[in-house]
Amino acid sequence: MRLVLVGPPGAGKGTQAEIIAERLGIPKISTGDIFRANVSGGTPLGLKAKEYMDAGELVPDEVTNEMVADRLAQDDAKDGFLLDGYPRNTEQAKVLDGILKEAGVTLDTALELVASDDEVVRRLSGRRVSKSTGKVYHLEFDPPADPDSDDLYQRSDDKPETVKHRLEVYAEQTAPLVGYYQAQGKLVEIDAIGEVAEVTERALTGIGAAE
Ligand code: AP5
Ligand code: ZN
Repeated sequence: MRLVLVGPPGAGKGTQAEIIAERLGIPKISTGDIFRANVSGGTPLGLKAKEYMDAGELVPDEVTNEMVADRLAQDDAKDGFLLDGYPRNTEQAKVLDGILKEAGVTLDTALELVASDDEVVRRLSGRRVSKSTGKVYHLEFDPPADPDSDDLYQRSDDKPETVKHRLEVYAEQTAPLVGYYQAQGKLVEIDAIGEVAEVTERALTGIGAAE
């Protein structure tokens, strides 16, 4: 299955992508995670991406599109994938359509996670990530064993003023994707409020993969 996940910052894309990709046996490809790994590794790609990410802006399309094209060309993505955080504007969506067309395949579904601004702000402000395992926690909704542990950090773009800007960028640049995929008959919208497991069930039902 070839899927993309669309939804505002903090809607739970990364959380759901991890579970759904594992259930379906397809790779999870998160552009945000790839950028963050390059930032921590100090690679040329990371150096290019960092200033945009810290400002809550989108990394330029040419950088992002090339990175995704390379990743989709790898063997494990040939029979299916779940993209988390890409595409993020209609230009990227057109590029993705072109990459898939060239490979002779098509996207199955764009799954939209719908959540209010209040809820996503609550989720982002409590998000903490483990340095050692990469696991994503929430101080209230999925608390780590020791909330004061030095192993936990807060993402640099989760500061309140950056979150506010990321939501504006989402509304202006990414939300139009919903119409783009609706016009292609590929959009499935689900309510992203509720327990993680409930949202997963809605997602699997929505994409026709429920057991
Ligand atoms: P990216 O990493 O994609 O960030 P984002 O879209 O802003 O989304 P988040 O990762 O913040 O949230 P999420 O929806 O994954 O939520 P999560 O599951 O973690 O992008 C970061 C930056 O990279 C961008 O700003 C841009 O600069 C750049 N970038 C990335 N892709 C790009 C592209 N295509 N083009 C250009 N630039 C790009 O959950 C959030 C919290 O809520 C967690 O604490 C979690 O535990 C909790 N939670 C999850 N589900 C639930 C639930 N059901 N109930 C309660 N809590 C929950
Ligand atoms: Zn994420």
